[in-house]
Amino acid sequence: SAKKVYVTRRVPQSGVDALTAAGCEITQWDSDDRVPKQELIKNIAGKDGLFCLLTDRIDKEVLDAAGPQLKVIGTMSVGYDHIDMDECKKRGIPIGYTPDVLTNATAELTVALLLTTSRRLKEGMNAVVDGKWGTWSPLWLCGQGLDGATVGVVGLGRIGLAVAKRLQPFGVKQFLYTGNSPKEGAKEIGADFVDFDTLVKESDFVLGCCALTDKNKGLFNADVFKKMKKTAIFINTSRGGLVVQEDLYDALKSGEILAAGLDVTTPEPLPTDSPLLGLENCVVIPHIGSATMKSRGAMSELTARNILAIFNGVPMPCPLLV
Ligand code: GLV
Ligand code: GLV
Repeated sequence: SAKKVYVTRRVPQSGVDALTAAGCEITQWDSDDRVPKQELIKNIAGKDGLFCLLTDRIDKEVLDAAGPQLKVIGTMSVGYDHIDMDECKKRGIPIGYTPDVLTNATAELTVALLLTTSRRLKEGMNAVVDGKWGTWSPLWLCGQGLDGATVGVVGLGRIGLAVAKRLQPFGVKQFLYTGNSPKEGAKEIGADFVDFDTLVKESDFVLGCCALTDKNKGLFNADVFKKMKKTAIFINTSRGGLVVQEDLYDALKSGEILAAGLDVTTPEPLPTDSPLLGLENCVVIPHIGSATMKSRGAMSELTARNILAIFNGVPMPCPLLV
């Protein structure tokens, strides 16, 4: 009989088409807003596959509602902190995710956010609109360039390495990185593996490019911002949970660090009354790292291929949990 798949949002059509072409019966939350928890719980019952997003918390309650016929979860994301992996393991539910196809888009966005922040583009654009552009001025809106800089990458995985390679031509003097273990790819950019403390103390730019885990939750806290250079710029394009946001606010407000660029926050969306938004030296964008047509299309398609692989009894192209 036809395999039933629940898709938790409107997604690029390529993925839905691939599932339909393979004979799957699709139920979809046909909206651009996130599916309410109760709706997800109602709809996952009796399904063979779940096509979900990073905005869906796939916890014990949802998995209990799914029942034993749920054979596979495909998340249209590279991050997986929204899925209770232990509960999936216990139930033997394989999970597929979408690395690689979003690496270039996310790296590109990270560079854009870094340049926006370091060259003070938000302040500059606001000044033009607000009539505060008096005259060309030798001391006005001077930022931190990448030329001669030390760049520290926390998590030199696929995305971290792709970011570093894109920054190299800007004249970066030295790349540092930290993580669980040295990475082969580091050689391509001549990056030094250092401990976390060394990285935050010596870097002009500190980039959060690692997956969020129980271990690194709140990694960037007051102590860490204190250790950074007063001229340091902090960029986060991984998950907001890496950062103690109140501590970041204090560090930016008091001049402990120079500026921050965030594509991810806690919570998302960031409330419009968040004090971070009142800071000139903080640029916040709405979690759009992978948001190119090409990348999102490929993510949707790969999610479908992961799901179909399990239905067909073959290995997933991108398994997270087998
Ligand atoms: C985006 O944040 C993703 O995990 O794909
Ligand atoms: C800048 O526009 C300069 O001419 O120095």
